[in-house]
Amino acid sequence: MTLPTPPCSDAVSERSTWSADLASIDATAQLARAFAALAQPGLCVLLNGPVGAGKSFFARSVIQTLMAKNGAIEDVPSPTFTLVQTYDLGVLDVWHADLYRLGNPDELIELGLDQAFEAAMCLIEWPDRLGDMRPDAATCLTLTPHPTDYDRRHVEITGPRDLITRLEQAMETSAT
Ligand SMILES: Nc1ncnc2c1ncn2[C@@H]1O[C@H](COP(=O)(O)OP(=O)(O)OP(=O)(O)O)[C@@H](O)[C@H]1O
Ligand SMILES: [Mg+2]
Repeated sequence: MTLPTPPCSDAVSERSTWSADLASIDATAQLARAFAALAQPGLCVLLNGPVGAGKSFFARSVIQTLMAKNGAIEDVPSPTFTLVQTYDLGVLDVWHADLYRLGNPDELIELGLDQAFEAAMCLIEWPDRLGDMRPDAATCLTLTPHPTDYDRRHVEITGPRDLITRLEQAMETSAT
């Protein structure tokens, strides 16, 4: 029997977790702005959470922050139907994927996602569809809606320890 792949791997050592309550959409946007400071080729972020949790909002906010830093202004359309949207930000390529409608895992190779994991920063919605292709060192971000308050989310981010440390520093800087 093959056990289902867990959405986030703890297999890699030297990992740590950061979590917070996001009281509003502005708090999610602030987290995304801080997170954008961590952007680098090879950073793969697995965005977990149910439909409407805010995965696309978070990814779009990260991409818009990076665009603003690079003086680029582009639409950030949803990858719902294209599966992937790519952004050439000069110093960095960013891939935003929504794998909800992935028909066959072979499509991941056709899309070039395996190479993007090494060369670009990847923001992946519905990462359970990656199966065996999920990078072990990926950073896992889970958004959990509040049961009664529509605007509230809980966020948990698990990733390489140095990345979580830099995120904490970026959050402190953005709060001041
Ligand atoms: N604190 C919050 N953080 C993020 N989104 C919020 C928050 N409060 C309200 N929202 C709203 O929740 C919705 C999130 O939609 P979004 O498309 O980002 O979800 P999703 O997780 O990508 O869903 P899907 O699985 O369908 O792709 C948006 O309409 C956004 O305005
Ligand atoms: Mg989405």
